[in-house]
This record gives sequence, structure tokens and C-alpha cells, in this order.
Amino acid sequence: MIKVMSVFGTRPEAIKMAPLVKELGRRAEIQSLCCVTAQHRQMLDTVLEAFSLTPDYDLNIMEARQSLYTITAKALTGMQGVLEEARPDLVLVHGDTSTTFAGALAAFYAQIPVGHVEAGLRTYDRYSPFPEEMNRTLTGDLADLHFCPTAANRDNLLREGIHQGVFRTGNTVIDALKTTVRPDFTFHTPLLNQLDYTGRRVVLVTCHRRENYGPPMAHIMSALRRLAQDLPEVELVYPVHLSPVVQEAAHSHLDGLANVHLIEPLDVLEMHNLMARAYLVLTDSGGLQEEAPALGKPVLVLRRETERPEAVAAGTVRLAGTEEETVYALARELLEDRASYEKMARAVNPYGDGWACRRIADAIEYRFGLRDDPPEDWQG
Ligand code: UD1
Ligand code: UDP
Repeated sequence: MIKVMSVFGTRPEAIKMAPLVKELGRRAEIQSLCCVTAQHRQMLDTVLEAFSLTPDYDLNIMEARQSLYTITAKALTGMQGVLEEARPDLVLVHGDTSTTFAGALAAFYAQIPVGHVEAGLRTYDRYSPFPEEMNRTLTGDLADLHFCPTAANRDNLLREGIHQGVFRTGNTVIDALKTTVRPDFTFHTPLLNQLDYTGRRVVLVTCHRRENYGPPMAHIMSALRRLAQDLPEVELVYPVHLSPVVQEAAHSHLDGLANVHLIEPLDVLEMHNLMARAYLVLTDSGGLQEEAPALGKPVLVLRRETERPEAVAAGTVRLAGTEEETVYALARELLEDRASYEKMARAVNPYGDGWACRRIADAIEYRFGLRDDPPEDWQG
């Protein structure tokens, strides 16, 4: 029996780790433990509830307007006691948040091997996304097992000289999506049941990245305001991240418009089902760039670069940048020009086939001698 501890703290990590924690829990020779830093509190708890997960450890570190220093320091020091008490054989971290880096560093200090889920994503610009590019690069150095979603992610690691323990598994977000989207889903947010998804076009918006704070976010919000004013037949639905910086930017630009709906963050079930019904997605989120293509929804990415080029290559995601004029023009084109829209609106799955968690659990069992062969790579 081996003890595997999954460590996560924010909403996207929780959504992408939940199906893996469940898969590990089903393995007879694995004891699956779960430690949350709660870098996010409310936005994490809704995910835990949606997937019926109860953490074994909860560091409860979140503060209002927290800094990178406090998140990292509190997560790192909090992990010491947890690791000393639980003594896992393997620590799993996910992605590129401050929790990811601090969790991996804490495990390294305790000389416990680290598995990195969603490994190998890179922009090669250390300030964009910030601080995520550095978090995931450092985590890659600390990790012993690397679970890469795609071939390009694996190739990044190989180029960096990381050859051992690299598996190509697909992204666990596609595993999660398989369990959440239902054609007969009923929303508990009344607005989402009332929207006319066929008669009017619903545009789903999210925006939260630190490197977009300040002028880029203001430019994006101005573009959204103009879109709503110039195209009154379109409904913008924007679940606003709880960060006070984001709340202020969204409300100061977008309050008072009848066809803009600034709502609370949605739970993951509502979010995935809203995305499945929406016409278009405008976002700077990493996770949405993976989910929307699988659901056949075109995406304009509100960033200068992306570490997820696969769906751009497939033609369903386009980099829009953060300039007001470009964001406005590209969104307007997709809303008014049917041919442009149809070219992008195809379901593609460059990020996974829904079996990533099984491959990751198999790879862990292989690493610890509980299985003779490694899993077959995902070939997508
Ligand atoms: C974090 C991650 C980012 C990830 C994002 C997902 C880092 C440095 N950043 O950024 O990579 O894309 O999560 O959403 O790890 N807040 C609440 N309640 C919550 C969550 C946040 O009130 O449930 C507020 C708090 O005031 C908090 C602030 O939002 O201080 C910012 O949260 P933080 O985790 O520092 O940054 P994110 O922008 O969420
Ligand atoms: N999400 C959600 N509710 C929301 C906004 C996003 O459940 O109101 C989900 C979304 O479907 C995706 C994940 O949260 O699975 C993405 O999180 P976020 O955009 O916060 O972070 P990122 O992926 O950019 O790190």
C-alpha cells in the first residue's frame, strides 16, 4: 500500500484534481489523501462540494488581497506539519499556482517525491502569465513524475533536459467535463434558466489574470462595454472572480447595462453547463481554453500569449490580446459574420480523451512497482 497526497488550493486545481483524487481512491493499493491550502476559500469550497470531496487537511491560508509572498510562505510552512504527520510516499501538485510551487517545494524539503499534474506547459516568457510561468518551471525542476497533457508539453520538458518519469496522459479537465455536462441540466442561478440561448446569443466572459491587472483589464472591460452597447441583441454573462481588483474593474466599467450580467462565480456544474449552451467565450482563463473547444465553442483569449497553443492550431481558439480595439473587432466579427463563426465552432479535443486520471494512477502504480508496465501514452 502506498500513500499518495494530493495538494491543491485554488478553484482550477480543485476542478482538475477532483477526478484524480477519486480515481486514486478507487485503487486497492493506494491510500489517497487530500490536503488543501485553501489559497481560495469560497471558490474552492464550491468545487469540493460539487465533487463531494472532504479534505484530510485544510491549511485555510486565504486572506483578502493576499500577496504572492503570503500565499507562498503560509502554504510552505503549513505543509511542514502536514507532511511530518501524514508521511506520504508521493505528493501530487497541479499546474502553476503559488500553492503548486509551495506544495512541491515543501515535499522536496521533506525528501518526498513529487508528481506534477498538468506538466510541461510553457510560454517561455517568465512574466506572462505571471507568476504562473515561473511556478510551473520551478515545479518541473522539483518533480520526479511529470504528467503532461499533450505531446507539445512533453517536448518542452525533453528540450529542458527532463527525460525521466515523463508521461503523456491528456488533461484531467476533460475527465471532469465528462461528468458535469448534461443536456437536461437545471441551473440554480435563476438568470441562467431564464436566458434565451437560441433566440439571443450568449457570450460567456471571464477575466482574472494578475498580468492583466491595471490598464490591460481596463481595456478589455471597455471593449466589453462597447460590444454590449453596439450589439443589444447579445447577452454578456460574466461570473466575476472574487478578487477585489477584478470586482472593481468589472463593476466600474460594466454596471448599468441591461444586457451585461455580472454575477457571482458559478459552481463548476453551472459553469460547464452554461459554457455548453453559450455562443462564444471571451476569457483569459487557462481552464476555459481547454473546456470550450471540447464543447465546440469558439474562444477569444484575452491575453498576449498562451501556453495552450493546441486549440489555436486546431482553429477553435484565437489570441485576441488585451487592446480594446482588437478585442472589440474580433468579438464583433464572430457575432456578426456567420462564416467566421462557423470556421471556429467545431468540437475538438486536443487536450484529452477523458482517461487522463486512469493513466496517471497507472503511472504512479508503475513507479512504485505495483504494476509491470507503464500506461500507454495518450495519442491525441
Ligand atoms: C490564483 C492563481 C492563478 C489562477 C487563479 C484561478 C496564483 C499566484 N494565482 O489567482 O494562477 O489562475 O487563482 O482563479 O497562485 N478571493 C476570495 N475568495 C476566493 C478566492 C479569491 O475572496 O474564493 C479573493 C481574495 O481577496 C484573494 C484574491 O481573491 O486575496 C486573489 O486570490 P489569489 O489566489 O491570490 O489570486 P487569483 O487571481 O485568484
Ligand atoms: N469556473 C467555474 N466558475 C466560474 C469561473 C470558472 O467553475 O465562475 C471554472 C472553469 O470552468 C474552469 C476553471 O474554473 O474549470 C478555471 O478557473 P480559473 O479561470 O479561475 O483559473 P485558470 O484556469 O485561469 O487558472
